[in-house]
Amino acid sequence: MSPVAEDDALAALEGFLRTRLDPVITGCKGPDFVLSFVPAMEEQAGPLFAIVVKGGTAVVEREFRGDADHTVRYRVREVLDLIGEKRELLGPFWADHLPLDRADWGPALYAFFYRNHPYRTLSPVLQEIYLDPRYWPTITPPTQGYKLYRLTTEHDLQRTLEVGLAYGGSTLFFLAAHARRGRGEHIALDPFQYEDYAGEGLNLIERSGLGERFRFEPVRSREGLRDLARGGEVVDLAYVDGDHMVWAVLSDLIGVDALLRPGGFLAFDDSHMASGKAALRVIAENFDYSVLPGWSTDRLTVLQKRSERRPPATLRARVTVARTRTKVMLERRRIVESLRSSLRRR
Ligand SMILES: C[S@@+](CC[C@H](N)C(=O)[O-])C[C@H]1O[C@@H](n2cnc3c(N)ncnc32)[C@H](O)[C@@H]1O
Repeated sequence: MSPVAEDDALAALEGFLRTRLDPVITGCKGPDFVLSFVPAMEEQAGPLFAIVVKGGTAVVEREFRGDADHTVRYRVREVLDLIGEKRELLGPFWADHLPLDRADWGPALYAFFYRNHPYRTLSPVLQEIYLDPRYWPTITPPTQGYKLYRLTTEHDLQRTLEVGLAYGGSTLFFLAAHARRGRGEHIALDPFQYEDYAGEGLNLIERSGLGERFRFEPVRSREGLRDLARGGEVVDLAYVDGDHMVWAVLSDLIGVDALLRPGGFLAFDDSHMASGKAALRVIAENFDYSVLPGWSTDRLTVLQKRSERRPPATLRARVTVARTRTKVMLERRRIVESLRSSLRRR
């Protein structure tokens, strides 16, 4: 984006913030609520959005505790129900309640809040994609991408893997980390790069000049992870950001666990969503991982694998299904079978 366009984006954003700082009616569907936005800054998690319920009294803030369950608590339960746990908080709000196309606002926000963020020094392509509405809101937020970059460099991780390439946002952070040290490899699995993204992720990676340490497998994670494990491959970090349906996330978890070395890192995007929470419960009750709150954000959970211990064939967990706390027993084999049948329906 040229400096002039960036100035325009900032001016538009400032106008938006001025009007929204006083609660205004934004056309919410709920009978008792009027929702609006108050941007809130939080150093670790990036900008969050408080939701103001009519009268301005009930402010709902997403509160990240960094506990073992990675619970994101809400002060007003009804609002959570209203927006539905299954959808990402920020994205659907923009879609449902902003008068303008949300695509106009994502990049403006990034430009506004992250003008001087160090992610901008990693690659000109990274600067570009966070200013371009085409990539919003698919790409990993820049603060989160930068955490992945730091995790990789500070722990000197050599082999990183990611489920879900899309426009290559997170991939560019991993590749920047490998380029900085002049060694390492990043593997991305995604069967829909050409079908859904017109090869744009691969183009951006090529344009960044960081592609030397990149390996792309255009396959579904289930097969891709299984084949890598059969080939005896081992990774130091796996970033799970593919299909967000619960069976798919659980299947990815089982697949990446087979590849991760003890001491390796598992990074879960969108772990505040129902599928992510279910996966975290399954991990807590069946796998030998510990949560690293310092590296997690409101939507990313980073865990470290403690030992080589294989999970039991039957995974037990108490998870929330359709807002009801339920005890479930999941056979590892059945998770993979459920995924297979849901893929057939796709
Ligand atoms: C949210 S996007 C990933 C964003 C990306 N990590 C970034 O930061 O820019 C989710 C991606 O998962 C991919 N995906 C969906 N199902 C998948 C599967 N079964 N295996 C691998 N990737 C999958 C989609 O094609 C999409 O590109």
